[in-house]
Amino acid sequence: MNNSIGFFDSGVGGTSIWKEVTVLLPKENTIYLADSRNAPYGEKSKEKIIDLSIKNTEFLLNQNCKLIIVACNTATTNAIHLLRESYNVPFIGIEPAIKPAGLITKTKKIGILATKGTLNSKLFEQTSEKIGRDVSILEQVGDGLVELIEKGEINSPRTIDLLKKYLNPMVEENIDALVLGCTHYPYLIEEIRKIIGNKIQIIDSGLAVAKQTKNILQKLDLLQQNNPLLATTQHVFYSNKNSSTLRSFVDHGNHIKIIEHDF
Ligand code: DGL
Repeated sequence: MNNSIGFFDSGVGGTSIWKEVTVLLPKENTIYLADSRNAPYGEKSKEKIIDLSIKNTEFLLNQNCKLIIVACNTATTNAIHLLRESYNVPFIGIEPAIKPAGLITKTKKIGILATKGTLNSKLFEQTSEKIGRDVSILEQVGDGLVELIEKGEINSPRTIDLLKKYLNPMVEENIDALVLGCTHYPYLIEEIRKIIGNKIQIIDSGLAVAKQTKNILQKLDLLQQNNPLLATTQHVFYSNKNSSTLRSFVDHGNHIKIIEHDF
């Protein structure tokens, strides 16, 4: 089916997921909605996050998307159950990968950096309860990081200072796995690595989401059928704020179209 895979996020972060999906499924057309005007979602009430997720979903459904990737941990953990109940289209969500981290840790201490909205959600609480009792989860809200990444500040002094403040205590507590529970944070991996060194494993969920998307498209017989030349594949990005950061994160190919749109 030639219809596009739809993505939405509170802004540019979900492009870290979009990249993994387009590598695994290079013939699929995509439409990405960056709701940057409303970033950060992580500071908003559950009701507001649900309202925004509905608005984004309806925008993508109006573009006939065949599957929607909620490329945002905060929207997934607060709203995906309602989206699945309300719309007749498959949804793929993204949640902090604390289960895999719980399986690999030897020090029995894992760290998670995520938004307040994700860490306070019911879904996160339920997942945390499934981790073995012998594993401690050190939770840290990444206050201010999403705003800086939205401005393209991935290695500015302000960003590095915040990262040090959030990560150094976890390193001192001897974590050996760090879960990135926000799709904006993979853009900080280089700086994070400089702070935490090489012994702590960094875990994000992008590849798992891409594999899951492929499985679901296959299972529902929704994969792109016409086998077109890759040159005809289309990637359209909608942004409701200045799109320069978005452009700097994704504009590395010839088939990208970025539209500033008031939604
Ligand atoms: N990318 C979103 C996430 O994964 C950022 C949330 C926010 O806007 O606070 O949680």
